[in-house]
Amino acid sequence: MFSATGFSHPNIALIKYWGNRDNRLRIPSNGSISMNLDGLYTRTQVWFDSQFDHDELFLEGHQVSGTAQNRVSALLDRVRDMAGLALYANIQSHNNFPTGTGIASSASAFAALTVAACCAARLELSQRDLSRLARTGSGSACRSIPGGFVEWQPGDDDETSYGFTIAPASHWELVDCIVIVSQDPKHTSSEDGHALAESSPLQNTRIADAPGRLDICRRAIKMRDFDALAKVVELDSNLMHAVVMTSNPPLLYWQPATLAVIQAVKEIRTQGTAVCYTIDAGPNVHVICPKENADYISAQLNQIHGVQKVLTAHPGGKARCIIDEDENIASK
Ligand code: DP6
Repeated sequence: MFSATGFSHPNIALIKYWGNRDNRLRIPSNGSISMNLDGLYTRTQVWFDSQFDHDELFLEGHQVSGTAQNRVSALLDRVRDMAGLALYANIQSHNNFPTGTGIASSASAFAALTVAACCAARLELSQRDLSRLARTGSGSACRSIPGGFVEWQPGDDDETSYGFTIAPASHWELVDCIVIVSQDPKHTSSEDGHALAESSPLQNTRIADAPGRLDICRRAIKMRDFDALAKVVELDSNLMHAVVMTSNPPLLYWQPATLAVIQAVKEIRTQGTAVCYTIDAGPNVHVICPKENADYISAQLNQIHGVQKVLTAHPGGKARCIIDEDENIASK
């Protein structure tokens, strides 16, 4: 039996990964810090079996080919090499949240795939090695392997580039109010965005200043200093989107409702409620606040024209897997 199911949470980057020093291995241009998102998850089953003559990928029950399938097969090839396994796989993956909209679905997708594939192939890797492996599938996935608040040290090569926990999920009761303004797939993938980052005249400045922002963010998390966190998180998000908007060709992930949410967050803060925003590669806005403010802020955000819904997530744990027994193979 070579089947296992992996579970993992997406993560929200507090300090962003944008641009690679090595696009193939996903060695990033700068370090990043994120928080895993409890309540949102990807569940992926990997079943290696001699009956398959190629890898078959199913997302939400629909077979997928092309780039997505190639990225998945490339990761499985690494697992097969390490395990000495010569079997193709059937992969069934489900998200309980909308994909492709700036909730980092590729992070949880590749983290769940990595733990499921290693578990199914009976490969016992350290968390560091799981994180390195997940990184080769999608950079941000290396931060969904460990739990809680996670830093991705950029490193110089495959060995030294991985994510590790800087504080457990229980350390700080923050809430991410995820404001959905669009569920359409984005026009430009993060993969293509990373490749364009260097063409922005602002990217070098963003990277040069990243160690300082990482220090501030790490310290703010350790000290549970929300004001310091809010300042550096918004600065870092604005810097990433400045690079995005000034790359060649320029990209723009925002929509009118994205800006309306940014303005509302500033207004709520002016009135004395601790809150900040951050935006990944999509139009949806992650509004982060201490737990006690979450209900009020969610209710305010829900009233904004163009907001479809607001999901809430607390700091989440690490990726994990279970080995499937015969009767659990969904696709049988
Ligand atoms: C804006 O990890 O999705 O969310 O490695 O090409 O899969 P690939 O990129 P991905 O990039 C994430 C970009 C971001 C910022 C972040 O999560 O740090």
